[in-house]
Amino acid sequence: MSGHGDPIRMSSQKCGPLSGVAEVPGDKSISHRALILGALSVGETKITGLLEGEDVLDTAKAMRAFGATVTQHGPGEWSVQGVGVGGFAEPEQVIDCGNSGTGVRLIMGCMATSDITATFTGDGSLRKRPMGRVTDPIALFGAKAYGRQGGRLPMTVVGAADPAPVTYTTPMASAQVKSAVLLAGLNAPGQTVVIEKVATRDHTERMLRGFGADVTVEDTNEGHKITLQGRPELVAQTVAVPRDPSSAAFPVCAALIVPGSDITVPGVSQNPTRNGLFITLKEMGGDIEFLNEREEGGEPVADLRVRHSALHGIEVPEDRAASMIDEYPVLSVVAAFATGKTVMKGVHELRVKESDRIDAMARGLEANGITIEEDEDTLIVHGMGQDGVPGGGVAATHLDHRIAMSFMILGLAAQKPVSVDDGSPIATSFPIFEPLLNGLGAKITRD
Ligand code: S3P
Repeated sequence: MSGHGDPIRMSSQKCGPLSGVAEVPGDKSISHRALILGALSVGETKITGLLEGEDVLDTAKAMRAFGATVTQHGPGEWSVQGVGVGGFAEPEQVIDCGNSGTGVRLIMGCMATSDITATFTGDGSLRKRPMGRVTDPIALFGAKAYGRQGGRLPMTVVGAADPAPVTYTTPMASAQVKSAVLLAGLNAPGQTVVIEKVATRDHTERMLRGFGADVTVEDTNEGHKITLQGRPELVAQTVAVPRDPSSAAFPVCAALIVPGSDITVPGVSQNPTRNGLFITLKEMGGDIEFLNEREEGGEPVADLRVRHSALHGIEVPEDRAASMIDEYPVLSVVAAFATGKTVMKGVHELRVKESDRIDAMARGLEANGITIEEDEDTLIVHGMGQDGVPGGGVAATHLDHRIAMSFMILGLAAQKPVSVDDGSPIATSFPIFEPLLNGLGAKITRD
């Protein structure tokens, strides 16, 4: 929903060791895609482990508005009666994607090659984010988009009545853009090709294949090339959503910085397009074991055992950015407790997330006594060691769930409590964040 309730001020403070099992919710990226591909297939798709965060619930509502029947049967258990590729109905109402860039961009993609018109909006954060990155490629299929200046929401998209297939090289590393093009390509005749210079999360490709589409992936001189044969009949599937590595990041990072901690986070996706944070944390000296490695719901998963560790700063390789793009905020918190500096380069995409995450982290870390350096594409955190982080500041979250959660983790090991002006956006991706962390021994409160 675009209207958040009242801001919720939250604080966290130094706590004893964290212990126990942290069962984090389902993967947000996969949850959106399960609902969308369910809506685009023939028959009834059954989903277990769906993330019931606001972002995904907004996508469920949107799929209903386009004609699918979406039903909740129990916690995390949902079904989608699809309308088939090309079967979307024209929505009678404005599609409100709330806080979700993934929701709005993927949905714009999948309606862009149907002869229907839809108007999209979102909350104060989403209305600031650039949509040109999706409206440019969907225009090549023949769709038209009319938005506010700078390609912002609210925006009306008029789908192409007679779409042409497209070959598109993504100008930025973005799974949302790649996915929007592939979803548009579903209802275009012939082959749609997306080329990306850096491979981004591949859930759309994996799931499209699972639903019966012909998708091939190859590494070529031009880059990572994905080819989709248009107009497949997608067949309803059973989708088991694995736990979200981007949510797992918060208890994992908390355990690394709170002395004496020893926790297990079971069933976390280890998809190589998503696991960059865990590799980075290990390079910093993090004690993380990957136990019981297996496959679940078409994704590699493992149980993570994480113990408190003495950490040192590193330079994070730039080519790892796409596989940990949502994790830089919490990494910059962990970096504050390391010795030496942690250098994060090649991270300009952070500036167009739910907030400008480089700016939001930089200002919040400074408010808590931590020295940072930044430029358009870089964030450097000067580590203060295990006991050296002052805390005591209030961070502004700018309607960004990951900024709010990151600062709540900071407070668990800082000398003085840390507050955020508004923790309400946490509900978009991790509605059980507070009870889950507090159940492990954290001290997070609503003021
Ligand atoms: C996502 C892709 C990433 C990521 C977002 C989820 C997805 O965004 O930051 O949280 O599900 O495709 P970009 O495509 O903008 O990199």
